[in-house]
Amino acid sequence: MTSADAAGTGIVTDRPRPVILICATGGTIAGSAAAVDDQHYRAGVFSVETLTGAVPGLGDRVDLRTEEFFALDSVDLTLADRVRLARHLQDVLDGDDAPDGIVVTHGTDSMEETAYVLHLLLDTEVPVVLTGAMRPADDPGADGPANLADAVAVAADAAARGLGTLVVFGGQVLGARDVTKRTAGRLDAFECLHGPLGHVLEGRLVVGARPARAFGPTSAFRLSDLPDPLPAVEILVSHPEMTPALVRAVARSGAAGLVHGGPGGGNVSRPVVAMLDEAHRDGLVVVRASRLGFGPTARNGDISDDEHDWVCAGDLPPVKARVLLALALTRTRDTAELQRLFDTH
Ligand code: SIN
Repeated sequence: MTSADAAGTGIVTDRPRPVILICATGGTIAGSAAAVDDQHYRAGVFSVETLTGAVPGLGDRVDLRTEEFFALDSVDLTLADRVRLARHLQDVLDGDDAPDGIVVTHGTDSMEETAYVLHLLLDTEVPVVLTGAMRPADDPGADGPANLADAVAVAADAAARGLGTLVVFGGQVLGARDVTKRTAGRLDAFECLHGPLGHVLEGRLVVGARPARAFGPTSAFRLSDLPDPLPAVEILVSHPEMTPALVRAVARSGAAGLVHGGPGGGNVSRPVVAMLDEAHRDGLVVVRASRLGFGPTARNGDISDDEHDWVCAGDLPPVKARVLLALALTRTRDTAELQRLFDTH
């Protein structure tokens, strides 16, 4: 549906102007400090029209469509909610009047999980961009408007096609697989272990790298194949004095998988090795990740994954390893095949 960028605007579409859907889901970008006095602020208070209205000229170069899918603090979003959002966006993208780009406004606390779910599941070349804010919309120094302006510019830019799902935040363009919220205290809260894919310069996308792993059209996962609910996967951040009862409780909870967040490169203390071995014998698939949340974990590094029949998360942090394991368990329980999915997605 695209044609050449004759005007040299960076925007490519058959329409007079690209159509950008802004799908709001809540978060601090729509939050209010004034709405409550019993807590710092409340997420997801302001309408999507209020957010777009706060950005001068946002609709000057694009035709905006808006919708509110959730109005939630992202800490409350479940994996099922994220898959529901993916199904909705895929329906929009498959529709007759599909937009040229999509921006999802989202809370920052679990933005990386939603971004990774959309990245793995959306079968599209169309740019899908998540953004949010560290400060509520009614804060005098609100960062949401600048982030939203950048996100719309990226979603409308032909250079963003085929990059999968992106997080645009603080002027950076971050790949969904690698992006991690690194701090709750700074406006540049997000970082990628291997650096950003690009940045926004004077309202234009500058691309410096492309995603290295399978996603969207090349991913092993299809929305139409997913069971509901997905297999349950728990995360334990561990230390040597962890009670074995905790791991046994996970094994007996009906969970299919356990992501172990260990110190440093995903190391496992001796007492915990025994607990994980027992859990594996009880049927849990065990993934070894780093509790740093910023990897990497080397397969058969300090400890032998082969010997214990564990999957190594590589450079995925525990929260993303949980997402990938839940999806991967819908295809296989074989450790070698699970490891292959972890190495390629
Ligand atoms: C949320 O994640 O919904 C609240 C926090 C934020 O957006 O920064």
